[in-house]
Amino acid sequence: MTYPYEVSKAQEEILKNNVMFGGPWRGPLITSGKGVYCYDRDGREYLDCESQAWSLGLGFGNEEILEAVFEQAKHVYHIKGGLNTFPRLRLVEKILELVPDVFDRVSFEPSGSIANEAAFKLSLINKPKARYFLSLYYGFSGNTLATAAASWHATKVFGHKYGGGVKYLGFMENFIKVPNPYCYRCIYGEKYPGCNLTCAKQLEATVKYGVPGPVAALILEPVQASGGQIPCPPEYLKEVRRICDEHDIILIFDEIQTGFGRMGTMFAMDYYNVIPDIATIGKAMGSGFPIAGTILKKDLLGFQDGTDDNFTYCNNPLSQTAALKTIEILIRDNIPENAKKIGELLTKGFKEMQKDYPIMGDVRGPGLHIGIEMVKDPVTKEPAVEETQKIYDIALEKGLLLGLGGASPHLVKIKPPLIITEEEANKLLERFEDTLKEFYKQK
Ligand SMILES: Cc1ncc(COP(=O)(O)O)c(C=O)c1O
Repeated sequence: MTYPYEVSKAQEEILKNNVMFGGPWRGPLITSGKGVYCYDRDGREYLDCESQAWSLGLGFGNEEILEAVFEQAKHVYHIKGGLNTFPRLRLVEKILELVPDVFDRVSFEPSGSIANEAAFKLSLINKPKARYFLSLYYGFSGNTLATAAASWHATKVFGHKYGGGVKYLGFMENFIKVPNPYCYRCIYGEKYPGCNLTCAKQLEATVKYGVPGPVAALILEPVQASGGQIPCPPEYLKEVRRICDEHDIILIFDEIQTGFGRMGTMFAMDYYNVIPDIATIGKAMGSGFPIAGTILKKDLLGFQDGTDDNFTYCNNPLSQTAALKTIEILIRDNIPENAKKIGELLTKGFKEMQKDYPIMGDVRGPGLHIGIEMVKDPVTKEPAVEETQKIYDIALEKGLLLGLGGASPHLVKIKPPLIITEEEANKLLERFEDTLKEFYKQK
């Protein structure tokens, strides 16, 4: 296959230094992909455990997505937010069909971070007297600063004393962190299940005694991803819902990673049977075409004026078409069910392996949202940070692209495309075990 814009290996080394990227550089230059596999410039194959920032739920090179997007591109491929298109209307209709009936509005956003910012803005609109937010230890909500704080329109806009953005200034200092339900390393020394849910009690105590004013919202990921693949226990989330209801706090579920099938259900709210007031979505929603969204409950106020929320790329018909096709395929092919089934197979396989390789401190799901916490010693649980980096490098040689990174560098993430078959999952387990064997051999 000829490749557009090819770059020699020598040029690659030079040009790489001109790319300013705020994340870790890891892994080879990828030139193509199909299904769960991708290939580097030398034609080496990698089984992808990271779905490329967890976005390729349907894997690489899905032809149906490609065709739908290409067809849409012939009509219109970019449009500003203030003009409507068929894909946008169909997509809002589809998303509202997928979530519980309590929701009735969706704003489309160019990225997950911005979807979460929209959720914060909506919270402040609905709780105008509140200035505080709660978020969990190890939580991750995105990579933007409060962009409104730097923008002219926040403080002054023609014809108004202040722009809409003034509502959001100052909120950044007002995030108060509360303990997460990190059962493998419970800071209260408790053991789940059967514990006192002290983490939830601490959350309620913070709301009552530890915040110097009303709280607008609590944001959490039902399974903390970047922070270390930490699933919220079901009782914890139910308790969080009760606390938010009792103290008049908006509950935001960041479903940017949990949404669109990864948990074995369409959304985490289905898995846990707990419904938030606002949900944010993104990543796998567009199968790699950039799109995110913020879903709002019926009884909450939406954006109030023309400066509240509007981005150049908030209405991309190609991404919307990709999202529509993604949802169609997820439902038609029972993809969440596959994520559940293969997730169980993989988790069982890793737990078996854990008996022989003590570096695998903890294996946890659910679905294809799998994390393996690597430790130097299963008793002391000291994080095996350098060892995990080594394992990542060996895995690459074995044809496995592991998920790594975020706040816990000793976490291996196994989150392949949701279309992975049983045969591919067994190959993944095999390559992982080969990696560990090699790691122990070199040790
Ligand atoms: C749970 C969660 N929320 C928000 C984000 C931010 O999304 P984006 O990178 O699309 O801005 C991420 C990205 O990794 C995420 O994992």
